[in-house]
Amino acid sequence: MTARPLFFAANWKMHLAPGEARTYLDRFLTMDAPRDGRTVAFFPPAVSLEAVATRLDGIPHYLVGAQDLHWEAKGAFTGATSVHLARGAGASAALVGHSERRHVFGETDAETNKKVRAALNGGLLVILCVGEQLAEREAGQTAAVVARQLRAGLAGVAPGADLIVAYEPVWAIGTGRNATPEDAGAVHQVIRSVLAEMGLPTDTRVLYGGSVNQGNVAQLLAVPGIDGVLVGGASLDPETWAGLCAATAGS
Ligand code: 13P
Repeated sequence: MTARPLFFAANWKMHLAPGEARTYLDRFLTMDAPRDGRTVAFFPPAVSLEAVATRLDGIPHYLVGAQDLHWEAKGAFTGATSVHLARGAGASAALVGHSERRHVFGETDAETNKKVRAALNGGLLVILCVGEQLAEREAGQTAAVVARQLRAGLAGVAPGADLIVAYEPVWAIGTGRNATPEDAGAVHQVIRSVLAEMGLPTDTRVLYGGSVNQGNVAQLLAVPGIDGVLVGGASLDPETWAGLCAATAGS
């Protein structure tokens, strides 16, 4: 089978301070080597961006990104990270609209869109996260919620944008419950049809996230529309993450 290009993204959330991140990468890099056709991306907390970027500098197919950004270029926004600050720390990508930003911090679709546009304008690869909550899934609203988040989040985005979409059902995040490959595949189809309707490329990479681990990653990657994974808990240990990144589509 020809290997499809795959994207493995580690969202460390609020874990791994700079020294811990360096120790992690020292260990990880003894177990994993860059591979053509595979990207491994790390999303550390903002304070650890520079430590990760410095350690990975010059190694192909690894990249580092911010977990969140503010859309303003600079100013009195205590605690926030601008595109300029993230880039200065070595980031070349950003997660935008993660469900924890939306549902823990109350970020709206309109704010998500401002972040997407600011990050793209600033030259970052954007991973826009979308996904329904459990009550929405149970009410049969999954497709409508995901379509709304995409239409709002990607408003004004040009077809050539450096963009990835991540489907992360909220009920599957950190719960040990993950969408079946069939369910995830069905939502990935919805995502591609909304991208087409918006004039955006239907071959935009679409990731799956939510309780991905070494035991289920291969099954998920075997689904044709799933181009990679966005992983929280199972990315926090370098051995586990290296094992997970060794998965190939259809293995
Ligand atoms: P878990 O892998 O811990 O479920 O987290 C998923 C996630 O939110 C990645 O962004």
